[in-house]
Amino acid sequence: MRILSGIQPTGMPHIGNYFGMMKPSIELQDQGEAFYFIADYHSMTSLYDAQSRREYTQQVAIDFLACGLDPKKAVLFKQSDVPEHVELSWILSTVCPMGLLERCTSYKDKIAKGLSANHGLFAYPVLMAADILIYDADSVPVGRDQKQHVEVTRDLAGKFNQTYGETFRMPEPRFREGAGTVPGLDGQKMSKSYNNTVEIFGEEKPTRKRLMSIVMDSRTPDEPKPDAEENRAIQLIKLLADEATYREEVEKLKAGGYGYGDLKKRLFELYWEYFREARERRSELMNNLDYVDTVLAEGAEKARSIAREVNQRARKACGLE
Ligand code: ADP
Ligand code: TRP
Repeated sequence: MRILSGIQPTGMPHIGNYFGMMKPSIELQDQGEAFYFIADYHSMTSLYDAQSRREYTQQVAIDFLACGLDPKKAVLFKQSDVPEHVELSWILSTVCPMGLLERCTSYKDKIAKGLSANHGLFAYPVLMAADILIYDADSVPVGRDQKQHVEVTRDLAGKFNQTYGETFRMPEPRFREGAGTVPGLDGQKMSKSYNNTVEIFGEEKPTRKRLMSIVMDSRTPDEPKPDAEENRAIQLIKLLADEATYREEVEKLKAGGYGYGDLKKRLFELYWEYFREARERRSELMNNLDYVDTVLAEGAEKARSIAREVNQRARKACGLE
């Protein structure tokens, strides 16, 4: 089985990225041939600072490795080191009906959030389809918000195959059980573009402050909270704690006499503990950046040899060769 996923270098990776994409990807590295890339071409649709792009690209690689990506098992690379993605994206765009892109909600959401309506942002699902199809991927571990993009990918693979003959393998999205969309500090989807994130490796003080700033309702500590499961802090605790701890926190809120301040302190403790080991690995990696560069360079070479082959298959199918 071939597994593939990507993450954009548009900010520091956050716990939404971790539970939605990084953790499932790391778990899958034992189950097949895994390819994970840093989507720097994609990041150009919303980030316009060259130095930030370089830094975030390196940070995403470091965080992924710190969280347990093993470069002996999974191929980690930077998207733009494999420029064949862009050629395939053009090829696919010629079989992509406008309506398919017009229906994509993530484009509309991003425009509503104030991102500029450029062509790259609109055409982004086509590049994503190329990213996936160029590795003959079977399985794509992503957060729920990417479901529609994987559907576009399947549509485009079908359209191309229908037009030029069987060329691409049909990928399946893979969502992590129970981890729909991780809510951000403001209750919306946690996202680097919405300034509502909890970084995986945030510094202690600022992260505590951020978690303490989660806005709650105005009920007093004494009041029982029968809707405890809806609470934002509780939803994060569900991801960070074992089942028994989670239940305990829910019951305390339901019973009353447990204030939001104490709840948020508990949330911070659980978060800090959850990433403790990874944090140690990360500080070693930060002192060994040459190693990180080598992982990416070797990854690019492995990825490129497959991408070249599949891209050539597509070129032949449509008569470019
Ligand atoms: P962001 O929205 O923060 O810019 P990306 O678009 O780079 O994140 O997403 C990288 C991966 O992380 C994708 O697979 C995406 O589905 C997942 N992801 C991002 N935010 C969340 C979230 N809040 N909950 C679950 N998964 C998420
Ligand atoms: N669009 C994805 C996101 O914003 C990132 C991405 C780009 C991706 N290409 C991909 C994910 C291919 C999976 C497969 O999160």
